[in-house]
Amino acid sequence: MFRTHDCGELRIENNGQMVTLSGWVAKRRDFGALSFIDLRDRYGITQLSFNEEYNKELLDEARKMGREFVLQVQGKVTERSNKNPKLATGDVEVVVESMRILNPSLTPPFTIEDDTDGGDELRMQYRYLDLRRDVVRQNLILRHQVAKQVRQYLDNKLFIEVETPVLIKSTPEGARDFVVPSRMNPGQFYALPQSPQTFKQLLMVSGFDRYYQIVKCFRDEDLRADRQPEFTQIDCEMSFVEQEDILNLFEGMVQHLFKEVKGFDIGTLPRMTYAEAMRRYGNDKPDIRFGMEFNEIKSLTEGKGFPVFDAAESVLAISASGCSNYTRKQLDELTEWVKRPQIGAKGLVYVFCNADGTFKSSVDKFYSQEDLAAWAKACSANAGDLLLLLCGTINGVRKQMSELRLEMGQRLGLRDRNVFKALWVIDFPLLEHDEESGRWHAMHHPFTSPKPEDITLLETDPGAVRANAYDMVINGVEVGGGSIRIHDKSLQALMFKHLGFTEDEARYQFGFLMNAFEYGAPPHGGIALGFDRLCSLFGGVDSIRDFIAFPKNNQGRDLMIDAPSTIDQKQLDELSIALKG
Ligand code: AMO
Repeated sequence: MFRTHDCGELRIENNGQMVTLSGWVAKRRDFGALSFIDLRDRYGITQLSFNEEYNKELLDEARKMGREFVLQVQGKVTERSNKNPKLATGDVEVVVESMRILNPSLTPPFTIEDDTDGGDELRMQYRYLDLRRDVVRQNLILRHQVAKQVRQYLDNKLFIEVETPVLIKSTPEGARDFVVPSRMNPGQFYALPQSPQTFKQLLMVSGFDRYYQIVKCFRDEDLRADRQPEFTQIDCEMSFVEQEDILNLFEGMVQHLFKEVKGFDIGTLPRMTYAEAMRRYGNDKPDIRFGMEFNEIKSLTEGKGFPVFDAAESVLAISASGCSNYTRKQLDELTEWVKRPQIGAKGLVYVFCNADGTFKSSVDKFYSQEDLAAWAKACSANAGDLLLLLCGTINGVRKQMSELRLEMGQRLGLRDRNVFKALWVIDFPLLEHDEESGRWHAMHHPFTSPKPEDITLLETDPGAVRANAYDMVINGVEVGGGSIRIHDKSLQALMFKHLGFTEDEARYQFGFLMNAFEYGAPPHGGIALGFDRLCSLFGGVDSIRDFIAFPKNNQGRDLMIDAPSTIDQKQLDELSIALKG
């Protein structure tokens, strides 16, 4: 038997017992006639003790054990004179009587501790060692718990988990596909699914009624902290439902998850229309942990001779509470911050709301105290606050102000990781205009149904058509999104027409779905939640990488297995692929 107990198990109650443990050498400490080894496994750490008086040979042997050697030891559980309250097993140690090296180890390239000395790249290269660190392991345990609770909740609601294929045809979700060449069909390619969207709709046609899948999705897009090329969705679809049914059921799911995983009541999710989110926060995934809402003050700034504001379509102001003590240097730095190309503002106007009720602004030349007082009033600003103003086109300035608001929220400590604020953003536009191609694209995907009352606008004002589409947003993160689908063939054809597909193109790409819709498609809709994002939110970390066992870096590389990699000529020939150059 390799072990009678694990390394996190022994307590004072075990005092005097003979035990066998197996694990990794986390640390060794040598003192004159004494040595200690911290033995680690998945469950914890137990101190092993070796004593010259008791067994000199074993002590000498112990001193040869390097970090990460795999050991099996037998010994007696003994109360420690020097207890360690930080360790669950800290009241006891095992006085070793026999020891066996199960496997030696090279010295690891970084220390396997919570506070490691290894950089990101190095740890990714040796991810299997990084995964030995408690903090990283805890993240994956959290992921497991979330998955378990998701399954439990959906199972209770009669959902059936069905696996859908990974080698498919291109899905229209907006990102680029990863493609896989087919040896047996020269010149033809599979695509990896960006999501199981079309399959889950087909399952509704098949009568499955409630489907879910915790499923890998693949998107070839630019990577960020909350984006990986392969990521996991909690993908769901339901038949005979309206938007309201879906919002309620999945609101129930996040409430369940927060309760079971975090022991926290997230409460009811407020709902905000897309239009309102854009107006108040300039963002379709507003972080509502803090206020600092937008105020449109264009009308209060007009006609006072300040050409920049006069020429602008929109002048937005936010009030940063208690920031009227900002120094010139801080404001210069903030101005440079908004002028960076990533934000793209031309400049920043500020107004100090002084404690004595006066105002001081960077545009005093054009605006009187009364003008500035009116701005402050419009922003509900108090003495001691700082107004920050940006101007430009409506869409442009909203985007910039949204970034500034989030940055100020961060600087003022208003984005507390231990506070969770969730909401539904609803009534997304059906279509968005792509400047480059000059075409309208489906904002969510082409199967999303327009609001019936807006269908007539498709011809006259496509941008104003609202969809039965919704996102779940938590702490400014888009955690999930979905929609009620079109189940009517003629409406689907109309949508394709407005998306600029010819009939042939539509048939080539989605013929299978359109055919299926001829055989009795039920009204249906669904949602997919980003599983990695949900886990990282629960874990209080921005990067989803930390919650993925074997993630890719920002260049989409797996540094451990060194992928992607070239393949040899024989493979290329078999696949009928000729490389350029
Ligand atoms: P959508 O494209 O909005 O919808 O994706 C659903 C959720 O998946 C997460 N997500 C990602 N997570 C990590 N890395 C990525 N690259 C990434 N891309 C998306 C987000 C997002 O909200 N088929 C539809 C759903 C539906 O209509 O039912 C879909 O895939 O959290």
